[in-house]
Amino acid sequence: MFGFLLVLSVLSLVDPVPPPVPCRQCCDDLEPAEGSGAQPVMGGFSRAPEIRTYINMTILKGDKGDRGDRGTPGKPGHEGPPGARGPAGSKGSKGQAGLPGDPCKVHDSAFSVGRRKSLHSLESYQALLFDTVFVNLDEHFDMFTGKFLCHIPGVYFFNVNIHTWNFKETYLHIMQNDTERAIVYAQPSDRSIMQSQSLMLQLELSDEVWVRLYKRERENAIYSDDVDVYITFNGYLIKASVEGRDADGSSDLTLDEKGIH
Ligand SMILES: *[C@@H]1O[C@H](CO)[C@@H](O)[C@H](O)[C@H]1NC(C)=O
Ligand SMILES: *[C@@H]1O[C@H](CO)[C@@H](O)[C@H](O)[C@H]1NC(C)=O
Repeated sequence: MFGFLLVLSVLSLVDPVPPPVPCRQCCDDLEPAEGSGAQPVMGGFSRAPEIRTYINMTILKGDKGDRGDRGTPGKPGHEGPPGARGPAGSKGSKGQAGLPGDPCKVHDSAFSVGRRKSLHSLESYQALLFDTVFVNLDEHFDMFTGKFLCHIPGVYFFNVNIHTWNFKETYLHIMQNDTERAIVYAQPSDRSIMQSQSLMLQLELSDEVWVRLYKRERENAIYSDDVDVYITFNGYLIKASVEGRDADGSSDLTLDEKGIH
């Protein structure tokens, strides 16, 4: 910087119109020394402060420093809103086969239900419903639909007992699913009588057995009353198709073993 000021002083000497230099006496010690740049009366030096603004400080800069240590991490931000539901995953693989069933397991299925109300035929077929339960093992008989659902494949015995209505026909079928298997029939008569029908059926899993009343085209009815139960429907398993394991080692599961009731 000092060299810079010397250059400036040379420039001021070649100034074509130098300001008048005031008289000096050798005893004027109180004047500031040349080059201080702070004395406004000193001709060319009076312009030094505004010259200084042109100093390019870039040349005084040192080398770039070393990179600092990494700062401590900031606090985690607020949790964002939940994203949209993703697409459904693929179906899982089939599970392993269960343990073999107990070969000594005893299969039971039996029901006995009754009805205390009379019933007349409607425009369409209707299931005979029951309101009284005598026996219903494991609820295999559905009181809401009036149908026995086969949980254990095998040979079953079924029986229906009704009381006829005098001067009206009696026209019922014992059904296996939608197939008529046996009829309970009586012609109109002035005497009402008890009638019954029985049969055995080979049932498969989920087969339904129920009693169906015929349509109005053959006006028919069955009788019962609040005092006595005239109408009953009964059924029970005689022999299950599968007792434990088959000869080939496989095990046919019953509905019970599948957990369906
Ligand atoms: C200052 O000096 C640097 C390095 O010599 C140069 O690159 C820059 O242009 C100068 N700046 C000015 C304003 O003259
Ligand atoms: C009877 O119906 C059930 C249920 O719809 C069905 O699983 C079963 O296979 C049917 N049985 C016959 C013999 O059609």
